[in-house]
Amino acid sequence: MKTELIEIQSKDLRTAAGREILDRAAKLLQDGEVVAFPTETVYGLGADGMHASASAKIYAAKGRPSDNPLILHIAKFEQLSGIVSEISENARKLMEAFWPGPMTIILAKHPSVPLETTGGLSTVAVRMPSHPVARELILRSGLPIAAPSANRSGRPSPTTAAHVMEDMEGRIPLILDGGKVGIGIESTIIDMTGEKPVILRPGYITPAMIEEVVSGVSIDPAILGGPMAAELKPKAPGMKYRHYAPAGDMFLVEGESGQVIKKINALVKEKQSEGYKTGIIGTTENINQYCADIIRDLGSRIEPVKIAANLYGTLREMDQLGVQVIYGESFEEGEFYGAIRNRILKAAGYQIIKV
Ligand code: TXA
Ligand code: MG
Repeated sequence: MKTELIEIQSKDLRTAAGREILDRAAKLLQDGEVVAFPTETVYGLGADGMHASASAKIYAAKGRPSDNPLILHIAKFEQLSGIVSEISENARKLMEAFWPGPMTIILAKHPSVPLETTGGLSTVAVRMPSHPVARELILRSGLPIAAPSANRSGRPSPTTAAHVMEDMEGRIPLILDGGKVGIGIESTIIDMTGEKPVILRPGYITPAMIEEVVSGVSIDPAILGGPMAAELKPKAPGMKYRHYAPAGDMFLVEGESGQVIKKINALVKEKQSEGYKTGIIGTTENINQYCADIIRDLGSRIEPVKIAANLYGTLREMDQLGVQVIYGESFEEGEFYGAIRNRILKAAGYQIIKV
């Protein structure tokens, strides 16, 4: 299959040429095909979420285990009635506060959503993205669009169309290129099948932001801190897989910043002497003090939003440059840093060196 890459910026949506591109993409979706598109978080791999055969194509393109459910993307509140069976008062409050935006809500599914889309679960994940290209594509298709992140299973999520091409060339017919995404890590997932919000995946929308709208927020214990204990089964099935990972062996070094720099440089020296190509992923405050084959700056610690936006692209770059061993600075828990810590720990397969 030939994979076409077509550029479409938000400003093009008002032009005839832009509308033509979206019509073509929407038609492919209606025909049960897979189209990659930008969202405000990461690129998605979309297909008709109401047809098992279309969802099946997503799983095939990603190489994703079929027990890992997909998120249904909508553009209007009216689309909810066909995909969920009930919306609690608290769930509605969250939707009104955070949609469109980087928040996914888990609710009881409507019988017409195929089990193939929900990985066999009786619940369904729903999100209303804010990216204008995503919104327009969903509206034009008239469908709830099932879309996981557009990476091959296990790789870092794509934040540019080039990343999608890297993973999906020859596997899907069309990629809409809307440029680099804004947020760069996946949406916050909140289970609202009970009374109170339970965070199943941390993201741009933080526990404190949710608490302001509905009190009593908790975090699924399986996603906190260290490697998941075998007994703790994460409620978001996808969170159990090693994920977001570069090909190189990655370690996080944790501790006081001066000690961390010393330790990372020492480890790099050791690995270089054994003949490995080494990489360091650090922050602006420390970056000039490192020595390695490849050194990348995620951004300043006072701007965690930038760090998140650069993370996946940097992990991919390490792969492209053939880096074999990667040392990264770590990040502490806490509001937005919770999401960064969650992703970087997974990227490193929970290999932590404490100093
Ligand atoms: O930002 C995002 O959410 C991106 C963009 C494309 O919208 N999508 C995304 O999808 O990250 P994906 O498939 O890569 O991650 C979805 C996560 C998986 O961990 C999956 O297990 C979980 O959501 N999930 C989906 N349906 C669920 C359900 N019914 N109950 C619990 N977890 C669910
Ligand atoms: Mg994903």
